[in-house]
Amino acid sequence: MKQRPFTSSISVTDGALSEYDNHIVRRLSAMKGQYLDEPAYAAMLSQDPVLYEVYEIKRPESAGELMHGISIVHPGKVGDEYSMTKGHFHTVLDTAEVYYCLKGEGAMVMETPEGEWSVEELRPGRVLYVPPRWAHRSVNTALRGDLVTFFIYPGNAGHDYGTIEQQGFRKLVMEHDGRAQIIDNPRWRAREG
Ligand code: F6R
Ligand code: ZN
Repeated sequence: MKQRPFTSSISVTDGALSEYDNHIVRRLSAMKGQYLDEPAYAAMLSQDPVLYEVYEIKRPESAGELMHGISIVHPGKVGDEYSMTKGHFHTVLDTAEVYYCLKGEGAMVMETPEGEWSVEELRPGRVLYVPPRWAHRSVNTALRGDLVTFFIYPGNAGHDYGTIEQQGFRKLVMEHDGRAQIIDNPRWRAREG
């Protein structure tokens, strides 16, 4: 790992990073239980499309370091629900994250363990600050074109996927009458215990 200052480049046409340590590819099959329309989910599983990709420059997992990279959510829908990331709380809850939208149209769905929620629109040039304690999920609300964001978060943050896998997000972003709408997640349930 580099110990001196270094640079990397982001392609403005496709958001690709010139160098990276991790390339994460998430397919539909990794999203079991997250999409509301289960028959639509099951019908798409045989094709198991790639929903999103992350290119990350890895840094030591310590508080003073900053992980950074690019998230690319491909367009599509499962039933009426747009293509989205799994979403997570940071394991160290008191860690924030900054996203900068480079390309596409989308939304960040967020909530706290205490039940506050927020959905912020993402479009090119927009900077989103996700405060400590807020779980976050990116949603591509355009039916054509990738949603590309640059992100930075503390090296020690870690990812708690389990809480969202179990309870989901309180809000979903669905297409209704040709536009993106925020609805209550009828299947949301508080963590047991
Ligand atoms: C890191 C972060 C992003 C996401 C990426 C994929 O803390 O928030 O880099 O990891 O957008 O989403 P998930 O991690 O939810 O699969
Ligand atoms: Zn995060």
